[in-house]
Amino acid sequence: MKLIAPSILAADFTRLAEEVKAVQQAGADWLHVDVMDGHFVPNISIGIPIVECIRKLNPPPMDIHLMIDNPEDFIDAFFEAGKPFVKVITVQVESCKLLHSTVSRIRSHGVMAGVALNPATPISVLDEIFPYIDLILIMTVEPGFAGQRFIESMIGKIRRVREVIDSSSHKPLLEVDGGIKLSNIGEVAKAGADVFVSGSGIFHTEDYLETIRAMRKEIDKAVA
Ligand code: DX5
Ligand code: ZN
Repeated sequence: MKLIAPSILAADFTRLAEEVKAVQQAGADWLHVDVMDGHFVPNISIGIPIVECIRKLNPPPMDIHLMIDNPEDFIDAFFEAGKPFVKVITVQVESCKLLHSTVSRIRSHGVMAGVALNPATPISVLDEIFPYIDLILIMTVEPGFAGQRFIESMIGKIRRVREVIDSSSHKPLLEVDGGIKLSNIGEVAKAGADVFVSGSGIFHTEDYLETIRAMRKEIDKAVA
């Protein structure tokens, strides 16, 4: 399963409803929602009231990425704000102090539980939580802003996570986030990603339908 998840952080917020509809009509599989608190990352972005607004648009399944301190305190609030459209809630391993219970809490809502790793975080942090999670998010930029350049050395990391998943009977999805665009999505697919987050790689192009279609072609070519 290969999924494309446009990140609305790169959308035009003055026209958020239109932007959500546009990527939905362009075939977005998920809608990636970046939540930032100005503590865990040096930026503040989308919060609960915006997720409540997006819910009213009958959006694609929402992929909520919590780049915040104490994410365990906000799981229920984000689920309630986005239901029934919340598909995944992902917390950053670096800021979640109670990872095991947080993952259980996410799953108790019938939602996929994701764990994200910053570029410098080794994949060994997943050893104990691996059997309990539904998605692994490999950050391919330092979290905080859309429009950054993909960190090339993350290709090796994606490959290594793919190997871990392939050699296990438990199969969480492997998601990548940061600097993914038409020009590199094939390489990332070849490394083994399942879910491709793309912000400026989609929202800063003229024709979202054409971009997503071309991205799928690159993915298909890479994994054929
Ligand atoms: C970065 C966010 C990403 C970001 C992706 O902190 O987690 O989801 O919006 O945007 P691009 O694709 O432009 O790097
Ligand atoms: Zn994100």
